[in-house]
Amino acid sequence: MIILAIESSCDDTAAAVVQDGQKILSSVVASQIEKHQKFGGVFPELASRNHIAAISQITESALSQAKLRLDDIDALAVTHAPGLIGSLLVGVNFIKGLSLSTGLPVIPVHHLRSHIAANYLSDPQFSPPFLCLVVSGGHSHIVEVKDYCQFKVIGKTRDDAAGETFDKAARSLGLPYPGGVLLDELAELGNEDAFKFSKPKLTDSGYDFSFSGLKTSIINQIHNLQQKKAPIPTNDLCASFRKVVVDYLLGNFIKAAEDLHYRKLAIAGGVSANSLLRQNLSKICTQRDWHLSMPEKSLCGDNASMVGAQAYFEFLRGNIANFSLNAFANMSIEDVIFF
Ligand code: KG4
Ligand code: ZN
Repeated sequence: MIILAIESSCDDTAAAVVQDGQKILSSVVASQIEKHQKFGGVFPELASRNHIAAISQITESALSQAKLRLDDIDALAVTHAPGLIGSLLVGVNFIKGLSLSTGLPVIPVHHLRSHIAANYLSDPQFSPPFLCLVVSGGHSHIVEVKDYCQFKVIGKTRDDAAGETFDKAARSLGLPYPGGVLLDELAELGNEDAFKFSKPKLTDSGYDFSFSGLKTSIINQIHNLQQKKAPIPTNDLCASFRKVVVDYLLGNFIKAAEDLHYRKLAIAGGVSANSLLRQNLSKICTQRDWHLSMPEKSLCGDNASMVGAQAYFEFLRGNIANFSLNAFANMSIEDVIFF
């Protein structure tokens, strides 16, 4: 089954053609990062306008790179939640128009479900059940993936997401948006023991996270140095900050895996590209003889091939929309809305 998928939930306009949920025939991503950098983050209205400008051409490129025409496509898929509502609506309306003109069915896909499905693209043998750490710019979840379309959230952030925390830390160091990747690169050059950041402690939190204290803590460290007119050791701050965030994420994740007896783990979302997170988790899983899946770095960030992958499994379970399909800024990964 060949699916043409669209992703426009934030600031990437993406289209891909995916076969049977596992084989990428083409994948095109148009990033808007440069257009948002002067605002220090994503400017929602600008994002929607840029999606409108890019979406037709990106879709045509995905089809031509796959050497296919619309006649060869069996179904359409689109991210319909969660995300920036204006951005989501561009993708949803585009796909509805395409469905109207071609008669092809539309499969609505949850953004975090698609991030998890990036694991099936990287390793077609990998399958549920498993425990997944989903860490992106907007979410930090520990999710039991009981089946391809059955999820249980057992931990999540109570304030900022991990990616947002990295981006804000990077911004306070004067690095351009989105700073997470750059912070990761600079951290490789620094000393992770140079600065002390305390791991957040929540009472009665289960596997939940809280990142707002860490964000304040790096801002305070930088202010202290500035007040003393001391140089800012950017690389050391990046390394020390990355270490505490990664230790914190993995601490809760591994505890959850142990408590719930999972021996099969995965990571997903933009932050799953983080080098230290990947390195440390690989070590932990090797030591314990646990199976670990990590999407290739190119599949960690937003893309449409992961949407095409998840859409295949949603289709098999009958999750097909009619023309009342709508977009939602917020929606739990556990839920399905039938249109
Ligand atoms: O999943 P994603 O592409 O978009 C959302 O759904 O939010 O995640 C983007 C987030 C950004 O906050 C970005 O800074 C972060 O992922 N990110 C990283 C790395 N690469 C991307 N954070 C830490 N280390 C990285 N290597
Ligand atoms: Zn994402």
